[in-house]
Amino acid sequence: MSKVVSINKKIENFKKIIVVPGDKSLSIRWVLFASLANGKSKAKNLLLSEDVLAAIEAVKKLGIKVIIKKKECVIFGKGIDGYQYKKNIKIDAKNSGTLGRLILGLLVNSPNPISLVGDESLSKRDFRRVSDPLSKFGAKFKLKNNNYLPLKIYGSSNLKPIRYNENKGSAQCKSSIIFAAMRTNGITKIKAKKSRNHTELLCKYLRLPISIKKNKYFDEIKINKVKKINTLNYDIPSDISSSAFFIVLTALSPNSELTIKNVNINPSRIGIVTILKKMGVKIIFKNKKIYKGEKKADIKIFGSKNLKSINCPSQLNSGAIDEFLVIFLVAAKAKGISYFKNLGELNQKESPRLKWAKKILTCLGVKTFTTNNSIKIYGNPNLNLNYNKKVIIKNYLKDHRVFMTSIIAALSFGGNWSVHDKDSINTSFPNFLNIIDTLKK
Ligand code: S3P
Repeated sequence: MSKVVSINKKIENFKKIIVVPGDKSLSIRWVLFASLANGKSKAKNLLLSEDVLAAIEAVKKLGIKVIIKKKECVIFGKGIDGYQYKKNIKIDAKNSGTLGRLILGLLVNSPNPISLVGDESLSKRDFRRVSDPLSKFGAKFKLKNNNYLPLKIYGSSNLKPIRYNENKGSAQCKSSIIFAAMRTNGITKIKAKKSRNHTELLCKYLRLPISIKKNKYFDEIKINKVKKINTLNYDIPSDISSSAFFIVLTALSPNSELTIKNVNINPSRIGIVTILKKMGVKIIFKNKKIYKGEKKADIKIFGSKNLKSINCPSQLNSGAIDEFLVIFLVAAKAKGISYFKNLGELNQKESPRLKWAKKILTCLGVKTFTTNNSIKIYGNPNLNLNYNKKVIIKNYLKDHRVFMTSIIAALSFGGNWSVHDKDSINTSFPNFLNIIDTLKK
C-alpha cells in the first residue's frame, strides 16, 4: 500500500456531523492512573493509537494486566506499589513524549535500573527537562549526551520531596513531577507556568492529597504521598487537538458547517477556539457538560468569508500548543500580517514545527518571517494554488501533525500535493483520512 497521499482537488462545501477519537492526553493518563489503582478500571472510547498502545505495553512490562475489548479497555491495577520491577526492563515510548516523560515520574522508586527508548523523533527530544527535577527527588539518570534517549533511570528507596519551578509551561514535566511526588513522603511544591491540567483534575477527582492555588500565569501545586488510588471508570471525550484539523478545514471553506460531537473543552486546551474567534471564525459550544472534573461539549464551526490577522497574545500559547501548525493555515488566508511569538517550544515537538510551518507556508506561496521562537505570516485572502503547482512533503520525522496540516492545506488551497508517510497518523488519529472521506460524500 502506498504511503503517499496525493491530493489535487479542493474539498467542496460540506454540512456534516462528525465524531473524532478519544483525547490522547486523557487516554495516556487514564492508562497510568488505572495501572496504579486497586482493582479493575474500565475505559470507553480510549484512543487506540500507537502512543496509547505504547502506554499499555509499558504498564504490561511492569506486571499489569490489560485487556482490550471491542468497546472498552480493562486494566487490572495492583495498587500504588503494585509495579513489578524485574531486572532489565526496557520501555519503548515510541513517538510519545507524554508517555516517556510521565512514566519516568512513576519509576523513581524502581530498585532495578529501567531503560527508556523511543523512535527517531522522540530520540531527538529533550529529556533533561524531566531528569533534572526527578533527580532532585533522589532518582539517578544516564542519558545519551546528558539530554536524550536512550536513557536509564536508577530509582531510589529514599525519595525526598522537592520544590520546583516549572517555567516552560510543559504539562509533561509538571505531570512527571506530580507522579514522582505521589511516591514520596512529604509535601512536594511545584510552581508551574500554566499548561494543560488533566493530571491535576484526575488527582482531584480521585481525591488524592493535592492542592492547587491558581494565579494568573502560574499554579502553585502541593502534593503529598499517595497511599491508595480507587479504580477509575472513564468515558474518554474526543480530542480537541484532533478536532483542530476539522475546525480549520471548515473555517477555510466559506459555506461549510461542521459539528464535532462530545469534545473535551478543558479551558487549558481551547486556545485554538479563542484564537480563531479573534480571527473572525464563528465557533459555538453546544450541549456543555461536566464529566469527572473535565468539561465537554459539541463544537459547531461555520465557514468564514472574512478572516482577520492576529497579533496572538502569548498567554494563549500553552492552550493551543499542539494546534499552531494548523492555525497558521488560517493566518495564511487572513487579511493582514499575523504574528505569533514566544513559541520556542514548538521546535521541541515531534519535529521542529516552526521550521515546518515556514516550509508548508512557503510551498503555499505565503511570505513568512521566522525567528527561533516566532513567526510572522503575510496573509492572502485570495490564496489559491494552481493545479500544476506540485508540492511534496516528506522527511518530516513522521510528525503526525505535519502530515495532517499538509492534507488540510491541500484540501483548502488547491495545488497538486504528494504527502508522504501516511502511517504517521497512527500516532494520534488513525481514522483521520476516513473522516476526510465522509466529508466528501
Ligand atoms: C501533552 C503536553 C504537551 C503537548 C503534548 C501532550 C500532555 O507537551 O504538546 O502533545 O499530554 O501532557 P508539553 O508538556 O511538552 O508542552
